[in-house]
Amino acid sequence: SGTLGIIGAMDEEIHQLTADLLDGHTFSHQGSTFHQGKLFGQQVTITKCGIGKVNAAMTTQALLSLGVQKIIFTGVAGGVTPGLQVGDIVISTDLLQHDVDVTPLGYQIGLIPDEELSWTADAELQELALESARQIDGIHAISGRIASGDQFIASKDKVRWLYDTFQVAAAEMEGAAVAQVASKWGIPFVVIRSLSDTADGEANVDYRSFMPLVAIRAKSVVRGMLQRM
Ligand code: ADE
Repeated sequence: SGTLGIIGAMDEEIHQLTADLLDGHTFSHQGSTFHQGKLFGQQVTITKCGIGKVNAAMTTQALLSLGVQKIIFTGVAGGVTPGLQVGDIVISTDLLQHDVDVTPLGYQIGLIPDEELSWTADAELQELALESARQIDGIHAISGRIASGDQFIASKDKVRWLYDTFQVAAAEMEGAAVAQVASKWGIPFVVIRSLSDTADGEANVDYRSFMPLVAIRAKSVVRGMLQRM
């Protein structure tokens, strides 16, 4: 079995990686499809999880049951921290679920009772991702917190709320579910997201124009990481 797992939510987020697999084979396992082989010298298992936290959690569990020892998530996100632009890259420090709300019972917004507010990405994988991103010409990469929820964010008010409430850099729909499952297994992970939009009133239009283009940037970071491993 591959020792490194790579997850994306959509075809656009993984297709060049699966195309570059050497000695690759594809199989189904626990409701997900996996592509195993060699990628830039590393034994990898690549999978598309689909959209949202439930799909991400399910596929992560299946991937871990195949014996992977590390997980890299690659994809696109909406920028939340003021000043971030389309094409910028956010490497996860930690991830939380912004749509969790048990506040009527006295818990902090985003907190699942008896769990942590956020799950922390592996320090070495973060470092490797940053190093790799910084080698790519013209790319602006930062480390930051990522918020996931089963919502496509497309309003200035919601962006401001996410930033004021959680100080997140970017919003997407899967990362924190991967982080939660991987953390429970004790498996190191990192999430790499290139920004397709800034999650405001134009986010739907920007996402459709830029998603396929910027998805390539996050994949370039993954390629650089594999080459450095
Ligand atoms: N992925 C890319 N852009 C996003 C947004 N604005 N909200 C949620 N997920 C996204």
